[in-house]
Amino acid sequence: MRILGIETSCDETSAAVVEETGDAAAPWAMRSNVVASQVAIHSEWGGVVPELASRQHLRDICGVVDRALVEGGSTWRDLGAIAVTQGPGLVGSLLVGVSFAKAAAAAANLPLVAVHHLAGHIESLVLQNGELPLPAVVLVVSGGHTSLYLVERPGSYQLLSRTRDDAAGEAYDKVAKLLGLGYPGGPVIDRLAKSGNDRAIALPTTRLTHADRNAPELKGDLDFSFSGLKTAVLRHVRGRAADTPLPDQEIADIAASFQRVVVSALIERLFDAARRYGAKSVGVAGGVSANSRLRADLKERGERREIPTFLPSLALSTDNAAMIAAAGLRKLRAGHTASLELNADAALTL
Ligand code: KG4
Ligand code: ZN
Repeated sequence: MRILGIETSCDETSAAVVEETGDAAAPWAMRSNVVASQVAIHSEWGGVVPELASRQHLRDICGVVDRALVEGGSTWRDLGAIAVTQGPGLVGSLLVGVSFAKAAAAAANLPLVAVHHLAGHIESLVLQNGELPLPAVVLVVSGGHTSLYLVERPGSYQLLSRTRDDAAGEAYDKVAKLLGLGYPGGPVIDRLAKSGNDRAIALPTTRLTHADRNAPELKGDLDFSFSGLKTAVLRHVRGRAADTPLPDQEIADIAASFQRVVVSALIERLFDAARRYGAKSVGVAGGVSANSRLRADLKERGERREIPTFLPSLALSTDNAAMIAAAGLRKLRAGHTASLELNADAALTL
């Protein structure tokens, strides 16, 4: 069975065809994954402009779906279902994908599956690597989220912790902005950090020990916090002579020092959680999982702890529809379909 996936939650219009393999250990194969990025449109404004994003999704969605079908060697008649991101994300953007998917499901008489964006990021690990040894602890780290999930059974995602303030990707984007490096910040900081000294600037690491009043069900000590770090970088930059631009080497040193603190906070909590929950594997997914230091440190730490570690390919790290199609197949096989009453939900919980 082949499924068409559609993802429009933020600034990427994406469609993909994913197929079931019949192999329980590696259940899905990607036939196509087309992504139309809006980065060039939003970088002019220093961040995603929701109104521009939804209008661009409208322009791109038909062409992106057509290409995903052609590249996936499929016609509408070859499909068994349509999966779409219901939320969370920008509501105007989500609505384009949800409306398109509903119309296509009605016209082609196909079942519709509503997917949570973060379930998509988690299932990108399975699409890439096959089923993970369970229980697994998965870190989802993107521009909007930094959360740890326990996966005890396939398709079950239990939230263990989350960020109290900024997401890690958001911190990358804000620090890049204040260094004058443009949007999105993650890839450029990642690149500049390679030529910087990661101990050049002393930046704080935040360790939370108390429960979150807003999430009393979570213990709290595995939570993340990145806004203090961002403020420390801001103070460091402001503390310099205001009218002299920062030399390139100092920018590289700030990028490297910032990245060291972010990556070590992510890795520490991930492996703490893995130990606490007796995980047989760990995974990292979401846009920030494209980070070269995070990828290297994860591998190194996994080898030291003798626990298998999993990552998506770079194309499956950032937002894409193949992961939504994969998560959609998981839900479809568990018997969950949506009606044509489906609505986008900007604050959908997993
Ligand atoms: O998952 P994603 O594509 O969209 C959201 O769901 O948010 O993640 C986008 C985020 C952005 O904040 C971007 O700066 C960050 O991922 N990112 C990176 C890298 N590539 C993308 N952060 C650090 N290093 C990278 N190489
Ligand atoms: Zn995402």
